[in-house]
Amino acid sequence: MFRGRGSFLVVLISSVTVFLTLLQIYLKVAPNLRRRYANEFGGGEKIRKLPDCIIIGAKKGGTRALLEFINIHPDVEISPFEVHFFNMERQYSRGLHWSQMPLAAPGQLVVEKSPNYFVSRDTPGRIFEINKDIKLVLAVREPVERAISDFVQSYQRHNLTFERLAFKDGDGTFESVNTAWSAIKTSSYARHLERWLEVFPRAQILVVECGDLTADPAGQLRRVERFLGLRPHISQQNFFFSRQKGFMCWRRGPDDPGHCLGDRKGLKHPEVHPAAVARLRRHFSALNKRFFELVGTEFNWPQQ
Ligand code: A3P
Repeated sequence: MFRGRGSFLVVLISSVTVFLTLLQIYLKVAPNLRRRYANEFGGGEKIRKLPDCIIIGAKKGGTRALLEFINIHPDVEISPFEVHFFNMERQYSRGLHWSQMPLAAPGQLVVEKSPNYFVSRDTPGRIFEINKDIKLVLAVREPVERAISDFVQSYQRHNLTFERLAFKDGDGTFESVNTAWSAIKTSSYARHLERWLEVFPRAQILVVECGDLTADPAGQLRRVERFLGLRPHISQQNFFFSRQKGFMCWRRGPDDPGHCLGDRKGLKHPEVHPAAVARLRRHFSALNKRFFELVGTEFNWPQQ
């Protein structure tokens, strides 16, 4: 009798534990399932999804401005932070990319930007594995100016000069370019693009030049809209020039007071010795030529 009541209690406690565990799992999973099916069957609820388009770089190529400008479009949701999922082993091995994505309504495109993807060896193949049809956008800028901007962001505060890092000779002759320096490597666009083109067809990569974006954001955004298959929406009216910033700022609509990029963009560049600039331009001219062949467009970048 006593033993019978004991086993009854054990069975009861086990059943309650199993029930509570199942209830817990259900409560965790149900909202996700509801969201997924609401989306698939047109319920209209927002869900997190992997990006449809990635701005892959290049660092200091105007990537933030481009992302914010694309975000003017109502059919776009952006991931506001640089995700750097595919190029960082710790992130990639966790496999949680989707959780870093914004909530998007059905029909909205999700756009991510992670500028270091462009120079990362493993990234093209990893992106291809999750979505072989993904659209990629590459923002480029005159290579020497981009390298100087890179220096300003990452090295200037360490009491170094651009010339000291960009050249191997310490005697001020500016002959031997330090091709191992990351700022020089990143500006060698052809080298990186060649790797991407081993994985993705050219038609899946749109190239936006920073000078063109600064001069005519509406024109460049029209190209982006066409590339992404978005209905035309972004126009000249979305942009205004801020004299204080020295750059174009944007508004989403007539009631929007407007937004500009923060103070970390448009930092003052140091005066770089003209002989150093000329040598670097010569260094990049062959790489630029190859890059222009690959993309099928020639940008008006000085060769001297
Ligand atoms: P500088 O800071 O050297 O001027 P990224 O966003 O990839 O880091 O690129 C930064 C660069 O974007 C800036 O470099 C700036 O020249 C350029 N840019 C283009 N359009 C801009 C805008 N509307 N506002 C601020 N910076 C812009």
